[in-house]
Amino acid sequence: QDARLVDRYGRVARDLRVSLTTACNLRCTYCMPAEGLPVIPRDELLTPGEIARLVGIGVRMGIRDVRFTGGEPLMRRDLEDILAASRDAADRALRSIADRTATDRHGSAHPSRTDEEQGAPGSGPGPAHRTGDGLSPSDPVRFAITTNALGLDKRAEALVGAGLDRINVSLDTVDHAAFAALTRRDRLDDVLAGIRGAIAAGLSPVKINAVLLPEVLTGAPDLLAWALEHGCRLRFIEEMPLDADGNWTRNDVVSAADLLARLGTRFTLTPAGREDPSAPAEEWLVDDGPGTVGIIASVTRSFCRDCDRTRLTAEGTVRSCLFGNEETDLRGLLRSDAPDEEIADAWRGAMWAKPRAHGSDAPELASDAFADTTRSMGAIGG
Ligand code: GTP
Ligand code: 5AD
Ligand code: SF4
Repeated sequence: QDARLVDRYGRVARDLRVSLTTACNLRCTYCMPAEGLPVIPRDELLTPGEIARLVGIGVRMGIRDVRFTGGEPLMRRDLEDILAASRDAADRALRSIADRTATDRHGSAHPSRTDEEQGAPGSGPGPAHRTGDGLSPSDPVRFAITTNALGLDKRAEALVGAGLDRINVSLDTVDHAAFAALTRRDRLDDVLAGIRGAIAAGLSPVKINAVLLPEVLTGAPDLLAWALEHGCRLRFIEEMPLDADGNWTRNDVVSAADLLARLGTRFTLTPAGREDPSAPAEEWLVDDGPGTVGIIASVTRSFCRDCDRTRLTAEGTVRSCLFGNEETDLRGLLRSDAPDEEIADAWRGAMWAKPRAHGSDAPELASDAFADTTRSMGAIGG
């Protein structure tokens, strides 16, 4: 049996996104209703120990990137504890894989390796460092957060100390009035201070996410100029139908093509491909580099085929896809003292049922073809 989180279309999850809360101190229109999302009662939220245990189980199934999201992850005052405990659990999991690898090498030949994992004969040392089920202990586990950066200036150092490797910041515009309208809060200066604090704490390069609303398109050249000046890697994202108010329509989506035309009036862009095959963003070099700009074209060029993600909600359910409404509860198992292997099995079962795509890529469905979602972005964590 494959220990990894594989689905029936052959995709393997190595990227885990954990939502920590639905709370947020902004109210971006594409993500949350004006009144915010219902508060999750404290005893229904996963604790740092529970999160860390799931991270360890995930790492033993091949997870190598862990991203904490929200709502706003900084709203959890115990984010530093969550990171530190998760980092420990990940290190323990890697050691246990290394021990098994050693057993595999010194014990009898392991029959369950696939040809792909063995590589071509003489293709180097890779396979020897893997367990029979394709897991490698030598790939490090990297921890990230996606945040609005409010208050980050005060916490960045502690977060780095607790094991944070990198951050993505949601920032749609550097225009004060547009920012206040879009987030329903007048806090642009605090966000910019948060980004500077993160850079000072060594979290460079910071990635910036901007959701392509019409007003964001207008300010896109200024935002790119700001990002280049501060050494940030800006990515624009086509809006997905995960706004809490349900106002999304496909015809209103500002597309990657619209953005390229707008940026082209001020910058020279050269296509530079994806960072890796499963990265959501396609990159462009700006004015011959080194600066880049990325586009996450989730709507017009969906990347579901190469998706390597699995998601946990703040209440401890697995969501195999942003748009799949199936959720599998792991919190109940955690709290009934189920062994790790039973939790891993439930998680693998959830991933086996991952949908092929979210619907936008079906050619016969020209408009509004996305699967309906029961949760808005603020309750899934992007
Ligand atoms: P990196 O590893 O830094 O590239 O992170 P990321 O881009 O995966 O994460 P981030 O939280 O910054 O998300 C950026 C955008 O990508 C958000 O709009 C997410 O909703 C979107 N995104 C992330 N994963 C998926 C996915 O599996 N499917 C779709 N459709 N969108 C995704
Ligand atoms: N469509 C696309 N991206 C979204 N985000 C939030 N809501 C949406 C949406 N409806 C992005 C934010 C955040 C990331 C996790 O998801 O930019 O940075
Ligand atoms: Fe808050 Fe992020 Fe949603 Fe904006 S996108 S409301 S910052 S959770």
